[in-house]
Amino acid sequence: MTAPVDSPTLNPLVKQLGLLKHPEGGYFLETDRQVNEVSSPFAGEWDQLDLKSVLTLGAEGGSRSLATSIYYLLDHDSPSGVIHMNKSVTYHVLHSGRAEYTLITPGNPPTIEKHVMGAGDNETRMLLVGTGVWKMSKLLAEDLDKATTEADKRNLGCLITEVVVPGFHWEDHKFLTTSDLLHLVSEHPDKEAIMKELGPH
Ligand code: GUN
Repeated sequence: MTAPVDSPTLNPLVKQLGLLKHPEGGYFLETDRQVNEVSSPFAGEWDQLDLKSVLTLGAEGGSRSLATSIYYLLDHDSPSGVIHMNKSVTYHVLHSGRAEYTLITPGNPPTIEKHVMGAGDNETRMLLVGTGVWKMSKLLAEDLDKATTEADKRNLGCLITEVVVPGFHWEDHKFLTTSDLLHLVSEHPDKEAIMKELGPH
């Protein structure tokens, strides 16, 4: 987690809210971490999610904050996040802008859903992502294309609050590797198109 690089197209919300660069892409700031703790309900559950490389994760179980929240921002300079999963349930609540969310639920075949968080027709201001669902978010290509001036680019972005229950812990978090993605979509009829869209570029 590092300070964002200052640039003429950096969204002003980054400085206004004191956001940091997130290793998933985008920017974040933890806005709450409940001091009360619960014991993790997830001990041993990576195996049940049928993911071959999750067994390399560290010790599981332990205690977790009851809930945490963050601001999360995508902007012109950091317009997308990588695919990752959290064992906790995550509530996404829109403040401003819009972004496309891709959700992959493991299965045989996996299900792939797209949602636009935004305030327009067929867009949603609240998106609930359940346990064991892979997620990535990005600004819409059409919005990036429309932003041609430096001012347009600076004002582009999607700001949300994410509430994670039980609270965020790196042991409950996993980044998707290319081999995980290949394994995940191996039974999907559109696997070539999915790899082209979501795989390494
Ligand atoms: N630290 C790194 N990433 C996160 C996150 O997504 N949420 C919280 N609460 N803390 C983090």
